[in-house]
Amino acid sequence: MVKPSGIAVVTGASRGIGPVIARAMAETGYSIVVTGRSAPELESVAASLKTGGATALAVPADLTDIGSRKALVKTVEQELGPVDVLVNNAGGDPQREFEVMSWGENEAILALNLVAPLQLTHLLLPGMLERRRGHIVNVSSIAGRVGFPYTEAYAAAKDGLIGFTRVLRADYRGRGVSASVIVLGAIRDAGQGQRTADELGLDMPAMGTSPAGAVGRAVVAAIQKDRPEIVVMPGPGRLLKALMDLFPSLGPAMNEAAGANATMDRVIEHRRRTVA
Ligand SMILES: NC(=O)c1ccc[n+]([C@@H]2O[C@H](COP(=O)([O-])OP(=O)(O)OC[C@H]3O[C@@H](n4cnc5c(N)ncnc54)[C@H](OP(=O)(O)O)[C@@H]3O)[C@@H](O)[C@H]2O)c1
Repeated sequence: MVKPSGIAVVTGASRGIGPVIARAMAETGYSIVVTGRSAPELESVAASLKTGGATALAVPADLTDIGSRKALVKTVEQELGPVDVLVNNAGGDPQREFEVMSWGENEAILALNLVAPLQLTHLLLPGMLERRRGHIVNVSSIAGRVGFPYTEAYAAAKDGLIGFTRVLRADYRGRGVSASVIVLGAIRDAGQGQRTADELGLDMPAMGTSPAGAVGRAVVAAIQKDRPEIVVMPGPGRLLKALMDLFPSLGPAMNEAAGANATMDRVIEHRRRTVA
């Protein structure tokens, strides 16, 4: 629906999968705004996009803060003009037990992974509708569907993003603004999963994981082909996701069989020791 040109905002683009998405979009022809909290990292990502010939702007923002979300949109519109694509990629999980985290810590997970994507969309949607041009891409996770251990608030947020995307797409596609959700399984080479594996000296096997580059390609394909949902998992990802919905005990059984429960017990133990 949206031609591969115009201005795209990629959140969570200071590290992990975000810079990979930003690069894939820049190579497709978009001018890119990279955002996150870490200004030096954002500047370095923007510089590398510019070296590749793209227009890029770094705008630091803390997406758990309402004022910061509004300021981000204002700055982007003032500096570059109207936004054509919003990629809600910023997110993550502290990898700690639900009952051990304070309520404030659980709320912060929802603020980053669910409320921020909704509010950024809410801020940008009126302009997109006026121009009859826009695409919202939400980066979600299979965590809720697979019942991944110790992800209560994170899984709720990421499943929420799937529902949000479906309704948004149905309501506004006829008025020129579309929406897609990218549902990620375990990602290697970049991002939180790879970082945790490195931190604990664990293997990030090629089997059962997807390279970060696949996420960049999925985001571009979602916009160009106007796809409602792309599941980035090895094998028949969408079928696996559907099977997990059909058989809710399948995901937890797979976690046990694949050793994910044992691995997450080690991660939780490590966080208990390292997080004050
Ligand atoms: N990696 C995986 O295997 C995997 C699997 C499923 C889903 N996902 C999803 O994929 C997306 C990217 O994950 P990732 O693995 O690349 O994570 P990551 O490496 O931890 O990067 C997270 C990004 O979000 C930004 N961020 C964190 N807190 C923020 C805040 N308060 N305000 C603004 N930005 C903030 C970080 O920037 P600053 O620290 O500079 O703020 C960073 O750029 C997330 O939505 C995640 O849930 C990842």
